[in-house]
Amino acid sequence: MASHLHLLLLVALASLFSTAASTRTLLDDTATAPQVYTKVCDAARFAGLGLNMTEFRYCDASLPYADRVRDLIGRMTVEEKVGALGDWTDGAARLGLPVYKWWSEALHGLSTTGPTTKFDNLQTPHLHSGAAAVYNATVFANVINSAASFNETLWKSIGQAVSTEARAMYNMGKGGLTYWSPNINVVRDPRWGRALETPGEDPFVVGRYAVNFVRGMQDIPGHETTPAGGDPNTRPLKTSACCKHYAAYDLDDWHNHTRFDFDARVDERDMVETFQRPFEMCVRDGDVSSVMCSYNRVNGIPACADARLLSQTIRGDWGLHGYIVSDCDAVRVMTDNHTWLGYTGAESSAAAIKAGLDLDCGESWKNDTDGHPLMDFLTTYGMEAVNKGKLRESDIDNALTNQYTTLMRLGYFDDIAQYSSLGKKDICTDEHKSLALDGARQGIVLLKNDDNLLPLDAKKVGAVNVRGPHVQAPDKVMDGDYTGPPCRYVTPRQGVRKHVRFSRHANTTIYFGGINLNIEREGNDREDLLLPKNQTAEIIRVARASPNPIILVILSGGGIDVSFAQNNSKIGAILWAGYPGGEGGNAIADVIFGKHNPGGRLPLTWFKNKYIYQLPMTSMELRPVAKHGYPGRTYKFYDGPEVLYPFGYGLSYTKFLYEMGTNGTAVTLPVAGGGHCKQLSYKPSVSSAPACPAINVNGQACTETIGFNVSVVNDGDRGGSHPVIVFTKPPAEVDDAPIKQVVAFKSVFVPAGSTVNVSFELNVCKAFGIVEKTAYTVVPSGVSTVLVENVHSSVSFPVKISFSV
Ligand SMILES: *[C@@H]1O[C@H](CO)[C@@H](O)[C@H](O)[C@H]1NC(C)=O
Ligand SMILES: *[C@@H]1O[C@H](CO)[C@@H](O)[C@H](O)[C@H]1NC(C)=O
Ligand SMILES: *[C@@H]1O[C@H](CO)[C@@H](O)[C@H](O)[C@H]1NC(C)=O
Ligand SMILES: *[C@@H]1O[C@H](CO)[C@@H](O)[C@H](O)[C@H]1NC(C)=O
Ligand SMILES: *[C@@H]1O[C@H](CO)[C@@H](O)[C@H](O)[C@H]1NC(C)=O
Ligand SMILES: *[C@@H]1O[C@H](CO)[C@@H](O)[C@H](O)[C@H]1NC(C)=O
Ligand SMILES: *[C@@H]1O[C@H](CO)[C@@H](O)[C@H](O)[C@H]1NC(C)=O
Ligand SMILES: *[C@@H]1O[C@H](CO)[C@@H](O)[C@H](O)[C@H]1NC(C)=O
Ligand SMILES: *[C@@H]1O[C@H](CO)[C@@H](O)[C@H](O)[C@H]1NC(C)=O
Ligand SMILES: *[C@@H]1O[C@H](CO)[C@@H](O)[C@H](O)[C@H]1NC(C)=O
Ligand SMILES: *[C@@H]1O[C@H](CO)[C@@H](O)[C@H](O)[C@H]1NC(C)=O
Ligand SMILES: *[C@@H]1O[C@H](CO)[C@@H](O)[C@H](O)[C@H]1NC(C)=O
Repeated sequence: MASHLHLLLLVALASLFSTAASTRTLLDDTATAPQVYTKVCDAARFAGLGLNMTEFRYCDASLPYADRVRDLIGRMTVEEKVGALGDWTDGAARLGLPVYKWWSEALHGLSTTGPTTKFDNLQTPHLHSGAAAVYNATVFANVINSAASFNETLWKSIGQAVSTEARAMYNMGKGGLTYWSPNINVVRDPRWGRALETPGEDPFVVGRYAVNFVRGMQDIPGHETTPAGGDPNTRPLKTSACCKHYAAYDLDDWHNHTRFDFDARVDERDMVETFQRPFEMCVRDGDVSSVMCSYNRVNGIPACADARLLSQTIRGDWGLHGYIVSDCDAVRVMTDNHTWLGYTGAESSAAAIKAGLDLDCGESWKNDTDGHPLMDFLTTYGMEAVNKGKLRESDIDNALTNQYTTLMRLGYFDDIAQYSSLGKKDICTDEHKSLALDGARQGIVLLKNDDNLLPLDAKKVGAVNVRGPHVQAPDKVMDGDYTGPPCRYVTPRQGVRKHVRFSRHANTTIYFGGINLNIEREGNDREDLLLPKNQTAEIIRVARASPNPIILVILSGGGIDVSFAQNNSKIGAILWAGYPGGEGGNAIADVIFGKHNPGGRLPLTWFKNKYIYQLPMTSMELRPVAKHGYPGRTYKFYDGPEVLYPFGYGLSYTKFLYEMGTNGTAVTLPVAGGGHCKQLSYKPSVSSAPACPAINVNGQACTETIGFNVSVVNDGDRGGSHPVIVFTKPPAEVDDAPIKQVVAFKSVFVPAGSTVNVSFELNVCKAFGIVEKTAYTVVPSGVSTVLVENVHSSVSFPVKISFSV
């Protein structure tokens, strides 16, 4: 009896602590029994602090956000404001303002990176564990895999699932609302260690990934756009996403150059055409609520202190609604590593805020090697910067306005009713797990399949031999980086075992090879594009000894030079599986045994290793650099002999053939009043330039479109999904232009033996625009080409463009 009573009392206490009626701050996990509120403006919470909420206008939900934010900031002392400039804010108890931790990550599922997202731990359970304990979350395939699907619906669905799990964690006091994902830097060089985190090498594809993932993370149904005449800074958000790392960041640690000291020398054309493009799309089309600036310098100036990159471009030109955050410790890096202008901590802090930085990510909860706590730079030096007259307090007010407006939109102050019931039951749901499996399958790319070796008929084969270092790849390999503990985790071996037995004398061998995060990861670029030497030797040995050709499955983020396997008749099939996440073993096995017909296409060029010796990673140019003999980069500027598998390469268990019902078309663009013709560089062989070589798309209405249908014929006996990728090629006589560029893509399912029409409508300015030498985006006159191609089929038609001046 007594023990029953005791238990009841505990239950009563536990429920008390888990309600809002308490005095602690939000998400304060330093308390013995952390308190959970889902909103700041809770009258009982204020009462617990000895405050009367009605006296705080910032909690008056009937007022516009702008007024509420102004009220809040107006009440804060300068010290309190400075305390809000780091990612782990101080809050201000006297104002009812709790601590907020900004830093959460969700690259391809909730991640434990950063101080905010806290999974319960089986070893040392938190006091608030028990029934509400959350140990795991859905780990989707890494972004490079998802990119290979070229399926925008998938990208958005992943964002939606992740944000649901995020909001559930927030409700339980185990997570935040602001997520510093996605990573949308273009993979300029195949050695980059973070290729796995990104959607690949094409700026347009990367941009579309960003837009879809961000919309999945942020959009609340019915609030995808701001109503006419409305204020976009009040559009409510499910969670806040962040496009990073801006700008020209794609080198981590190569030959003694690190991202902390690298000065990316970038010309303006490459900025517009490649490095900024995905960010522009993310802000303009995704309406993202945050952008993160990077560690590196761009043409001498640290990215986080460049007013032109931040205020002028992101806010001014693109119209960001949200806040700009620094990569973690990027402000410290200005002083300590770039030793930029000899600036002190206070000077770097002032420069960053004046350039448009709103928040400093630091690593304030960590200690340095001497055991002293690290401090966010802005919170450490902010007061000195103000006191020494290097920074106006109103500059800090601007930063806080951007921060708190974002939090208002997230319902941090008032809650968002439709998400308040999300909880543990919404994490690791069957729906999310099957999306993870479906996504992982969609991202697998079939690179070789001699004599239709794949798919294996499980019944006929009966048993297989599995070999290689990744047969039992641990979750650290399968999940890649920026993850939490997965809900479910299936190794390649476990996946295969569901279909067949293992037997040592089986005639069929599947080799699971590749690389891992020891070789490619944040902070670590690759030395070469090869497999570890002994692995290559082992694969060749296993293939030679096998009675039948073997199947090679590669796990990696970046491309691997598997030249040794391409034409080796004993290696019958090659699959690239990226780092496919928690469901990866099932996804790979479903492809091998034909439960899923692979449709992925490479989102980046797989180069032969020789390529990397032709140019240093530090050369930022996309186009060939004649004076140094450097070749061009990515499929847009390189089509030389060192390509093993090109961008967009990918086979299927069927053949998809294209037909196009047009022989070509012509468009005449009216040059809007005051518009002028722009010059273009022509190839030396061109004797005379046209009267009007090109027009600047800025200032044009640009409403003209070209519509066409691609009929996709499935010339086989299996249905399958196929991404149709549309390229355009500029007129042949234009010098220095991309060889071709992606302008549209759509993934479609085509049943066996059927034909599906895919319709495209291209905006003429966007699809045929190129960036000329002086960095204008122009439409060239002359004959451009629309090109749709895959391994088996290629169709194209000319588009003659002229201008009526
Ligand atoms: C809180 O303040 C409001 C307005 O000043 C007042 O009407 C109300 O009585 C106060 N409530 C308490 C509990 O003091
Ligand atoms: C890096 O710097 C060290 C010390 O200066 C030098 O010994 C080494 O050769 C350099 N490594 C590369 C790859 O340049
Ligand atoms: C950055 O500077 C700090 C302080 O001088 C130093 O300890 C650290 O090693 C530097 N980091 C890099 C990557 O150079
Ligand atoms: C950092 O050092 C302080 C003492 O200065 C100690 O209390 C704290 O636990 C340390 N934190 C970590 C994460 O090691
Ligand atoms: C789920 O998380 C727990 C606690 O971190 C961990 O022990 C377990 O291995 C995770 N589950 C899987 C399938 O990885
Ligand atoms: C392997 O191939 C040999 C020769 O064709 C055949 O006799 C044997 O039955 C096969 N083994 C299996 C397990 O299929
Ligand atoms: C290759 O060598 C490394 C280091 O000696 C070893 O750990 C690994 O198991 C070897 N791999 C293969 C496939 O033999
Ligand atoms: C494999 O054969 C194809 C077709 O003959 C050839 O183009 C390619 O260069 C060969 N690959 C290697 C790595 O030699
Ligand atoms: C598909 O497009 C072709 C022209 O490309 C047209 O002849 C055909 O009727 C279309 N089929 C369907 C089902 O719309
Ligand atoms: C395309 O050109 C061919 C050959 O001139 C002609 O037979 C065909 O009808 C044309 N098709 C269309 C859609 O214009
Ligand atoms: C594309 O096909 C659809 C029917 O599938 C048709 O309505 C449309 O007119 C076609 N467009 C063009 C440009 O042929
Ligand atoms: C795209 O992804 C979604 C979500 O996973 C899926 O339902 C759809 O079938 C995919 N589209 C194609 C053509 O495979």
